[in-house]
Amino acid sequence: MKILMAASEVEPFSKTGGLADILGALPPQLASRGHQVNVVSPFYRSVQLSEPAVWADNLSITLGPDAHVVRVLTVANDGVTYYFVDYPPFFGRDGFYGTPAGDYADNAYRFLLFSKAVIEIARVTSPDVIHCHDWQTGLVPALLKTAHAADPVVGGVPVVFTIHNLGYQGSFDASLMGPLGLPAGLMSVDGLEFYGRLNYLKGGLVFADALTTVSEAYAREIQTPEFGAGLDGLLAWRGSVLTGILNGVNYESWDPRTDRLIAANYSADNLEAKQACKRDLIDTFGITSGPDRPLIGMVSRLATQKGSDLVGVAAQDLMAMDISITVLGAGDAVYVDLFRSLEQRFPGRFAMKVAYDETLAHKVEAGADMFLMPSRYEPCGLNQMYSLRYGTPPVVRATGGLDDTIEPYDPATGKGNGFKFREYTAPAMLAAVRAALDVYQNRAQWRQLMKNGMAQDFSWARAVPKYEQIYQRVLRPVGAGAPEASGSASKKDLLT
Ligand code: ADP
Ligand code: GLC
Repeated sequence: MKILMAASEVEPFSKTGGLADILGALPPQLASRGHQVNVVSPFYRSVQLSEPAVWADNLSITLGPDAHVVRVLTVANDGVTYYFVDYPPFFGRDGFYGTPAGDYADNAYRFLLFSKAVIEIARVTSPDVIHCHDWQTGLVPALLKTAHAADPVVGGVPVVFTIHNLGYQGSFDASLMGPLGLPAGLMSVDGLEFYGRLNYLKGGLVFADALTTVSEAYAREIQTPEFGAGLDGLLAWRGSVLTGILNGVNYESWDPRTDRLIAANYSADNLEAKQACKRDLIDTFGITSGPDRPLIGMVSRLATQKGSDLVGVAAQDLMAMDISITVLGAGDAVYVDLFRSLEQRFPGRFAMKVAYDETLAHKVEAGADMFLMPSRYEPCGLNQMYSLRYGTPPVVRATGGLDDTIEPYDPATGKGNGFKFREYTAPAMLAAVRAALDVYQNRAQWRQLMKNGMAQDFSWARAVPKYEQIYQRVLRPVGAGAPEASGSASKKDLLT
C-alpha cells in the first residue's frame, strides 16, 4: 500500500511528546513490511535535516484572501520519505504550538495551511490511504470529503484518523471561518461546529473513514462523558469504526542492554549494573540522601493530564515515606512552580529538572527504582512501558493505556508488573506507593517484579498488522463501493 501520514511532530526531527515517538516508529515499521510510506510534518525552526531535497519551492496555499508561497523539503530515512512543510512565518518559531505563556494566536491559520499542504502533496504522490493524527490534521479529512470530494486524484482517498489525545482539540473562534476561507457549510453540527466554536479535531472525528485511538481502554473511555471531553456522543455514534490499538515501543531506542545514554548497560540477568545508573541519576539530580533510599522517578509533560497536582497534594505524606524523588518535566508554569516549591521543602530528596532532555529521560528510566504516573487520563502512555523494560516498576493510575498495560503485583503468586490505583485522590495514590515500598523491602520479591516487567514485549509487531487491517478495511469496504460509515453519511443526530 501507498500510505501518506500527516502529523505535527515526528521523531527524530521534532518532539514534544509521545505523538513523535509513534510517528518515529510506525512509518518505518510499515515500510519494512513492504509498504511505501510518506510522512508530512511542519518544518519547525529546530528541525535538522541532512541534505534535504527541495520537492517544491513555490507551492501556493490560499487561506481566505491571501496566497502563501510554501516550500516543501524531503529527506529519506529508514525506508520512509519525509516531507517538511517549510513556511517560516508560521513554523520558523521556537515552539511548535505556543510558548509557556500559551498557544500561538494564529494556530488556526498555521494548521489549516499545513493541512492544505498535505492535500497538495497527496495530489502529487497519489496515496492509497491517508493516515492523519490529532487535531492539527483534522481538516485534512474535512476538506477532502467536502471541498475536494470531486477531485479525481484525492477526492476518493480513504482517511484513517488516530486520536492520541482528546484533550487537545484545536478550538477556535467561529468568526475565523471567513478569514480562513473555510467552506461555510462546514460550520454546522454535522461538521466542525462545537458549542459555537470551530473545532479542528471534530473534522477528523466526523469525516475520517475509520478512527483509531492508542489503547483499547481509551477507546471505551472516550465514549463516556467522563473522558469524552464533550465529544463522547459523536464518538459513540462513530463507535463501529473506532478501534483501540495499543502503541508499540521502539526497543531500538529503549533497551537497557544497548542504551548509550545511560551510565551502565544491564539486563534481567545482570541487574547489578542498574545500581550504577541509580548512582549516576542521584549525582545528576543532586539527591544527597544516599543510594539506599528508594528512588521514585517521573518524566512528564507538566500538564493537568499527567496528575502533577496530585503529587502536590500528596507531597507531605509521600515524603514522610523516606523516599527520594526525581522529576524531569517541562510544561505549565503552575506545575513548574509547584515542583520547585517541593524541591525547597525537601532539599536533597526531591529534585527536579525543568528541561526537555532525551538523555535525562533515559537516565531517569534506568536509575530510578520505581516510576510514578498518576495521570488523570492517559490515552496510551509510553513511559510505563519503557519503565517495564528498564526494570523500574511503574506505579500508575488505572486509566487508559496505563490500565491496559499494568497488572498489580501479587506477592502470593509472584505475578504482575507494577502497582495501580483507581480513584484520583491522594490517599489512593499513597496506598499504591506504600504497596510498592512494601514489596521493595523484600529483595527477592522485588527482583521477581522487575524481571516480570523486563520480560514483557510491547513491541510494534502486535500493532502494525492491526493498522494494516484498518487500511485494508477502508480501502475495500464491506458491501457497497463507498467506504463504510463514511463521514458523508447522514449526521443529523450528531451531538455537539
Ligand atoms: P504524552 O505524549 O502525553 O506526553 P507519552 O507517555 O505518550 O505521553 O510520551 C511522552 C514521551 O515524551 C516519552 O517518550 C517521554 O520520554 C518523553 N518526554 C516527556 N517529557 C519529557 C522531558 N521533559 N524530557 C524528555 N523527554 C520527555
Ligand atoms: C498522547 C497521549 C499519550 C500517548 C501519546 C502517543 O500524547 O497523551 O498517552 O501515549 O499520545 O499516542
